[in-house]
Amino acid sequence: MNIAELRADTPGCAERIHLNNAGASLMPKPVIAAIQGHLDLESLVGGYEAEAEVKNAIAEAYEHVAELMHTSPANIAFTEHATAAFVAALSAIRFERGDVIVTTRHDYVSNQIQYLALADRFGVEVLRAPNAPEGGVDLGAMEGLIHRKRPRLVSVTHIPTNSGLVQDVAAIGAMCRARDITYMVDACQSVGQLPLSVEEIGCDFLSATSRKYLRGPRGAGFLYVSDRALDLGLEPMFPDLRGADWIAPDLYQPAPDAKRFETWEFAWGLVLATGVAARYALDLGLEEIRDRAWELAAQLRVSLAALDGVRVLDHGAQLSATVTASVRGWSPPDLVRELRRRRINTTGQARIDAVIDYDQKNVDGALRVSPHYFNTPDELETLASAVHDLVSSRL
Ligand SMILES: Cc1ncc(COP(=O)(O)O)c(C=O)c1O
Repeated sequence: MNIAELRADTPGCAERIHLNNAGASLMPKPVIAAIQGHLDLESLVGGYEAEAEVKNAIAEAYEHVAELMHTSPANIAFTEHATAAFVAALSAIRFERGDVIVTTRHDYVSNQIQYLALADRFGVEVLRAPNAPEGGVDLGAMEGLIHRKRPRLVSVTHIPTNSGLVQDVAAIGAMCRARDITYMVDACQSVGQLPLSVEEIGCDFLSATSRKYLRGPRGAGFLYVSDRALDLGLEPMFPDLRGADWIAPDLYQPAPDAKRFETWEFAWGLVLATGVAARYALDLGLEEIRDRAWELAAQLRVSLAALDGVRVLDHGAQLSATVTASVRGWSPPDLVRELRRRRINTTGQARIDAVIDYDQKNVDGALRVSPHYFNTPDELETLASAVHDLVSSRL
């Protein structure tokens, strides 16, 4: 990996120390060019006409994303963002009173809210498998729950938004496949950060966003839908004229492939850019991306943990590129603001972003620092020394 070249290909690297890749990463030049190029075309020839002109490039975007996920283009639906993908998939399951959803204590906040909304509306029971002592879900307990409760759905967030944990989604996939149980994975934080194969994970649905570690644009995401889910006839609760054909006054027919989860209107420039971002990651190599990002994060945990007044909060057998810490005397929003004044981008997580995890860690939030492969050890040193100065100023 030529880091100098990759940084030169990323205009934002010249402006800031960007350590907020778990929020939205910096787009590389080819991704930016794809969006700008399509916007220019739309403004010259018209939006619908531009779409027709780039038909082949749109088909390629499906191919690149499918290659990234180790599946075929027919199993990919583009969406506006990860949550749109997730709820479209969730809405496909015909929950009945008494059905069980098995999930984890680390699933994403919006997903937790949606499980609770389903409990409220349909009377489903939400069961969260306990954690293992080493952090992350206890796989034995998860298997016990799946075996005893025969859930309607198992849903797991691969990498949470609020800590560096990586959940073993493939092990849980094997449990679901053995019992033919519908399995959803939220890969919003993991796509573009490490190699992902939907076959290996064994999921029916996988939702992702474009703007995070994949380095695509805001306002785009996608959903993987397995052949099993398609064959079972799973379809979103509210398909539109892209997801289905209205073939008789009282009859509609869902699209045969994952497009049944799409809706008609798209910002096609963002779809094209998502495809370009997937190609960019594939060409770099997902193993290389993961190794470098995780190594940078591991170094950062060591330097932050060495600072008086800083507690690193990540806990798990395997840790990702997301580093979380609580800093004595500082609330996360104040810290983020001070760091941003120093041209260092991070984010703050509040208790309500992860009530279970943060209550257990006894913190009311965390500073989240999320490097990517294009960051440098020098940038991390600058961040650590800024945190040191800020803590010292209030000790
Ligand atoms: C784990 C996880 N899932 C889902 C989402 C939601 O993604 P989006 O904002 O693209 O809907 C996020 C966003 O931070 C996330 O971290």
